[in-house]
Amino acid sequence: MSRRTRITVKVLVWLACLTPLVLLLYRVWTDDLGANPISTITNTLGDWTLRLLLAALALTPLRLLFGIAWQMTLRRLLGLFAFAYAVLHFSVWVLVDHFFNWGQMLEDIVKRPYITVGMLTLTTLTPLAATSTAGAVKRLGARRWRRLHRLAYVAGVLAIVHFLWLAKVGRRDVYVYAAVLALLLGIRAWDAGRRALVRRRAPEKVAPAAVSRP
Ligand code: HEM
Repeated sequence: MSRRTRITVKVLVWLACLTPLVLLLYRVWTDDLGANPISTITNTLGDWTLRLLLAALALTPLRLLFGIAWQMTLRRLLGLFAFAYAVLHFSVWVLVDHFFNWGQMLEDIVKRPYITVGMLTLTTLTPLAATSTAGAVKRLGARRWRRLHRLAYVAGVLAIVHFLWLAKVGRRDVYVYAAVLALLLGIRAWDAGRRALVRRRAPEKVAPAAVSRP
């Protein structure tokens, strides 16, 4: 892929990731948030956090299935956008739901399991965002960096549990997200199994998994 095409794709991804936020701000501006505005804002930001997280997690399975690698350069961008949406989602809870009432927040975290899991998800994503730079890969070393960034799948599972726990009976979208994550995890597991098998048969043939530039 040429440098020009790569830049165009990145600009398009930036625009695609910013569009939901701009649309949400427009709805705030035009007072078009429905009967429960806070819930609409929190849910929209939560939905996009999950979608972007799944999009970031889909890049490696795409490489494994189709042998294409250009999309790997988008991993950092999508991951950081997912984190940014997560921070906004969390900020609405801190600012609007509780207005910095730490005691009340702690109580909410302890009492409501879906909040506990939401916090765990955000906590899992934080070190990944903090180590998303090329410098961090160098400092940690490729192997440790790769191992740490597998936590993205743990964050994906936690995000689904968070959503499952809060979703009202009859909602189908949460199961669609869960199925997508299961498929992505299944592809990674299949690849790990295939590699282990080849390694056992001919150890010298297995190349270490690539760490693409974040
Ligand atoms: C970091 C990863 C997170 C993801 C991927 C995520 C995702 C979601 C999703 C998908 C929803 C439901 C949206 C819908 O109903 O359409 C949601 C709702 C919600 N999340 Fe999160 N969440 C995360 C973290 C958090 C954190 C850290 C908190 C607060 C501590 C939180 C608090 C909430 C609340 C209160 C709702 C329900 C809002 C309502 O129904 O009024 N989430 N989240």
